[in-house]
Amino acid sequence: MKRTKIKEILSNPAIGASILVKGWVRSFRNNQFIQINDGSTINNIQAVVNLDQFKDADLKDISVASSIAVEGKLVESQGKGQSCEIQVERFEILGKADPEEVQKTVMQPKRHSLEFLRDQAHLRFRTNTFGAVFRIRHTAAYAIHKYFNDGGFYYLHTPIITGSDAEGAGEMFRVTTLPVNDAPKDENGNINWKEDFFGKETNLTVSGQLEAELGALALGAVYTFGPTFRAENSNTSRHLAEFWMIEPEVAFNDLKDNMDLTEDFLKYVCSYILENCQDDLAFLNERGINEDKQKPQNERQELSLIERLEFVVNNGFERITYTNAIELLLQSTPYKKKKFKYPVEWGTDLQSEHERYLVEKHFKKPVIITDYPASFKAFYMRLNEDGKTVAAMDILFPGIGEIVGGSQREERFDVLKQKIKDFNIPEEELWWYLETRKFGTVVHSGFGLGFERMVMFLTGMGNIRDVIPFPRTPKNAEF
Ligand code: 4AD
Ligand code: MG
Repeated sequence: MKRTKIKEILSNPAIGASILVKGWVRSFRNNQFIQINDGSTINNIQAVVNLDQFKDADLKDISVASSIAVEGKLVESQGKGQSCEIQVERFEILGKADPEEVQKTVMQPKRHSLEFLRDQAHLRFRTNTFGAVFRIRHTAAYAIHKYFNDGGFYYLHTPIITGSDAEGAGEMFRVTTLPVNDAPKDENGNINWKEDFFGKETNLTVSGQLEAELGALALGAVYTFGPTFRAENSNTSRHLAEFWMIEPEVAFNDLKDNMDLTEDFLKYVCSYILENCQDDLAFLNERGINEDKQKPQNERQELSLIERLEFVVNNGFERITYTNAIELLLQSTPYKKKKFKYPVEWGTDLQSEHERYLVEKHFKKPVIITDYPASFKAFYMRLNEDGKTVAAMDILFPGIGEIVGGSQREERFDVLKQKIKDFNIPEEELWWYLETRKFGTVVHSGFGLGFERMVMFLTGMGNIRDVIPFPRTPKNAEF
């Protein structure tokens, strides 16, 4: 008999049919009721053992976490909490699980701390929370590909190993095959990278943007969706050393078009999840509400997870310039009461305390901040008429902070060449990038969405380590 997935059974119960289910035992009550989950949905199916038919000895290996195949008739359920159940006619334990060992793991059905779950990242998929998170993560990835495909964008695979530092922040992981202790040296005693695998210094990419621009300047609209690496030593709940980034790039789009695209795109992904992940969302929504109850009043969320997603879908994002943002901060109560730790001053970068004030206290909605001072933004952003700001945009989300960074790109050859020089980037590193501005250059724009930050928003999980299967953070590369 062919196996039927639990999701299919529950969404369209063929009452009276004989079915075969395979999955893992979530609980076994009164030596009679087996809750089985197969990962296709957060919901379990109940299999009921007829005690006249099976002896205790037959049932001894049915225990939490063991894998099981159950065959029987699907009937309407007598009990509460499920519409249908299986009357067990035959079953087979596929893989046993020693109950004593299970006690020590996250599979023991009780509340566990997220830290404990992280230590058992190889088993945490078996929990309701992580099942829900990773089904939503998958669906979000699918929605992103669908959005761009439907919009006529081409998925471009940009390199993971590169020779350039697109963001100029110097936070790169080196890629080399030279021996660590005995690297070949040049006549000045420096490491001779010419002898390295690629004949030059290389690193893991911090962004696919520069290569995506090359694609956009011929294909019109492209996007990347790939792993991105940053060796920033920030052990926060929002930073990973390895994360996934989505970077669309569009020819002929200016900053305004870029903002419109991003807003439409983010709303689409939220509404896709609202529509297609209802069971998982309902579970995480409850989870969020319960978690909030443990927190002090002033740290609780005003809206539940589902309400927050609906809010994004139904409301326009606030759009302000960096200069406006500074003015607002200077007039704010926390500034006047000296509650901010970092200075508020035109020309310095906004800190997360400032961003949080603007998004969570002042506007209470997603905010797009544009036109930052050129001094702390990347070299490729287009210089504005004022000569001191650039056509940048950061999108800030409540509870997340910066979720998107983007800009209109500098398309003018001379200005770009000068910028590269001012930023002390060796021109021979970027000759190919500069060259696109020589042949039919056009206005173009793009942005980068941190996929894990988006999944945090979609699931309500508060730590980025809990929305990627195996997080990579400073001093941690287990699994
Ligand atoms: O703002 P960033 O650095 O922008 C870029 O890399 C541009 N090249 C994007 C573009 O215009 N094509 O990074 C973009 C986003 C951030 O807004 C954030 O959501 C995410 O990537 N991000 C991280 N996510 C997790 N861990 C980290 N260490 C991250 N650094 C950036
Ligand atoms: Mg940024």
